[in-house]
Amino acid sequence: MDKFVVNGGTKLSGKVNISGAKNGSLALIPATLLAPGTYNLTNTPNLRDVWTMSRLMTSMGAFIELNDNTLFIDSSNINDYSAPYEHVKKMRASFYVLGPLVARYGEASVSLPGGCAWGPRPIDLHLKVLKKLGAEITNEAGYIKAKSKRLHGCRFHFDISSVGATGNALMAAVLAKGSTILTNAATEPEITHLARMLVKMGSRINGIGTTTIEIEGVDELTPVDFDNIPDRIEAATFMMMAAITNSEIEVCKVNPYHITSIIAKLEQAGCEIDVLSDKITINATKGLEHVDLVTAVYPGIPTDIQPQWTAMMLNGDAPSKVTDNIYKDRFKHVPELVRMGAKIDVVDNSSIITPSKLMGTSVMATDLRAGAAMVTAALVAEGTTEIFKIYHIDRGYEKFEEKLTALGANIRREKTEII
Ligand code: EPZ
Repeated sequence: MDKFVVNGGTKLSGKVNISGAKNGSLALIPATLLAPGTYNLTNTPNLRDVWTMSRLMTSMGAFIELNDNTLFIDSSNINDYSAPYEHVKKMRASFYVLGPLVARYGEASVSLPGGCAWGPRPIDLHLKVLKKLGAEITNEAGYIKAKSKRLHGCRFHFDISSVGATGNALMAAVLAKGSTILTNAATEPEITHLARMLVKMGSRINGIGTTTIEIEGVDELTPVDFDNIPDRIEAATFMMMAAITNSEIEVCKVNPYHITSIIAKLEQAGCEIDVLSDKITINATKGLEHVDLVTAVYPGIPTDIQPQWTAMMLNGDAPSKVTDNIYKDRFKHVPELVRMGAKIDVVDNSSIITPSKLMGTSVMATDLRAGAAMVTAALVAEGTTEIFKIYHIDRGYEKFEEKLTALGANIRREKTEII
C-alpha cells in the first residue's frame, strides 16, 4: 500500500495541467456497448476508476487498451451481459452498464452497488426509469436482472436530479422504439458530454444541457472517436489548494464554464481570478475570507468539492458553514481533519468550521474527495502529515503528487505496511 508524506508550509506557484474528467470517462466507456466496433476515447485519465471500468468491460468481451490517455475500445465481441459484485463493489459507476446492456443486448445482470464511504447510495431512480422504458427488472440475490425484447419510449420525471440515473436513462432510450422525454434530468457537464457522444454515434437527442431531454430512439448506432472533457473537480481542487496556501497558480487545460459557481465562490473568499478560454489564474496571496458554501446540482456548487472547501476554510479569517444538500452525510473527512487540530462541528448536513492551526499527524483518506481534503489541509499544517489509504485518491486524481510537486508542494509517495 502507499501513503503520502506532506511537509506543510510551502507556497504553490507555476502551472498545472488538468487531466480528462474521471466522471466523464466513466460515462463514455459504457456507451461503447451500444454499438459494436472500435472507439478511440481521447483525454482519458490514467486512473484506478478507469482501470476498474475497463476490467469490467473486458470481462464482458471488450478489448481495451489505454495508451497516452487515449482509450482504445473494441466492443465488437461483447458476450457477457453481467457486472459482477467484484467490480461493482469497487466502483458504483459500474452500474452505468445496465442501461446500454439491456438496450443493445436485451438483458443485463448487474450487482447492486451497496453503500459507499459516506452512506447509502440508492439506485431506485435507475430502476424506475428502466422499468418505464419497458425493462423487466428483478432483484435476485443482490443482482439486478433486466430483460427486454425492445425498450419503448416513455415520459419520465426524476424526483431527484441524478447524474447516474440520467446517464443510464439516456443510454437506454437512444435504442428504444419511439420517443422519450426525461424531465428534471441532470445537466452536469459529464452527462451533457455523454449526450453529445450519443448524438455523434447517430442518436437523435434534443435539449442537451437542459433538464428536459427528448430522445427519438433509433434502430442502431455507430462507433465513434470522441474527446473527453477536462476534470472540473480536479481543477477546483487545485484552485482550493492554491487558496488555502495563499498562492498564485495557473490552472491549464480546463473548461472554466464548467466551474463558474466555484470561481464565483473563490472570488467571494477574496481570491483574484483571471479566466481565459482554457486557463484560469488564481491569486490568493491576500489571504482567505470566510464564505459559507451550500452544495446543489449543476450549475450549483458540486458536492464533490465540499470536503476540500471545508479544509480550505480552516485557513479563513472567521468561522464559516458548509452544507451538503446532495449527500447529507458526506462528512467522514471531518474526524480526520479534527485529528490535525481542526475545530469543526457537524450539525445535521452542515459543518461549522472555525479557523484552526493545523498540526501534522497521521490521518487517512476515507474516500476520494476526503483524501483530497486531507492533502489540502496538510499543505498548511505545521510539520509532517502522513496520509494513509491514498488508493482512494488514486481513483480520481492522475499524477496527483507529481502535479503538486511541480507546483512546489513538499509531498512524496511512500510504501507502507499500514493498510
Ligand atoms: C455522480 O454520482 C458522481 N459519480 C459523484 O462523484 C457525484 O458526487 C454525484 O454524481 C453527484 O454529483 C460519477 O459520476 C461516477 P447521483 P451518482 O445519482 O450518479 C440520490 C466523485 O467523487 N439518488 O447524481 O451516483 C443520491 O442519493 C463521485 O467523483 C437517489 O435517491 O450521484 C444523491 O443524494 C462521488 N436515487 C443524489 O441523488 C437514485 O437512484 C445525487 O446522486 C440515484 C441517486
